[in-house]
Amino acid sequence: MTMSLTPRSVVLIFFLALVFILPLIGTAEEGSSSHLEEVLRNHGLPAGLFPQSVKSFKLDRMGHLEVHLDRPCLAQYETAVFFDTIIKANLSFGQLKVLEGMSREELFLWLPVKDIIVTDQTSGLIIIDIGFALKRLSFSRFDEPRACRSHHGLGFRMDGRKGIGFGYGGGHSDQR
Ligand SMILES: *[C@@H]1O[C@H](CO)[C@@H](O)[C@H](O)[C@H]1NC(C)=O
Repeated sequence: MTMSLTPRSVVLIFFLALVFILPLIGTAEEGSSSHLEEVLRNHGLPAGLFPQSVKSFKLDRMGHLEVHLDRPCLAQYETAVFFDTIIKANLSFGQLKVLEGMSREELFLWLPVKDIIVTDQTSGLIIIDIGFALKRLSFSRFDEPRACRSHHGLGFRMDGRKGIGFGYGGGHSDQR
């Protein structure tokens, strides 16, 4: 039996190949925690923004970053930082816009981290936007990924921007 490749079947094979190959192109990078450190460095950000317990991450071409941990946990930087099992963010050079999954303790409140920015590589500072305030912190504090322990003391769930504590209403206009 011979199989002849008619023009029609060539076209069919071409389209089948597209269907199977296209989904693979969407995900540019996928990897482990050490690879994530490299990705952060290449974006001008400190390598230790995420804890040691990172299991995997996905980063697509649009800069959508999704970081997976084994479980929610707390890491101690200059203050306690809460990481949910999945952290979603938009990554671009010098900036990590956190969409959900990261909060920090500030004056006994848990505030969702919204934005992590390095405006000037030479300043040695990173800026963390927690809604009503910008924290300027030393770059070196985030050089190394920290250990992250499970959060037995926290009996509540925090959902990124909708984190508990301070209901950020986009300014002071709603105060009376
Ligand atoms: C993150 O990226 C998506 C798609 O590119 C965009 O729609 C969204 O507004 C971005 N979020 C922030 C907070 O910039």
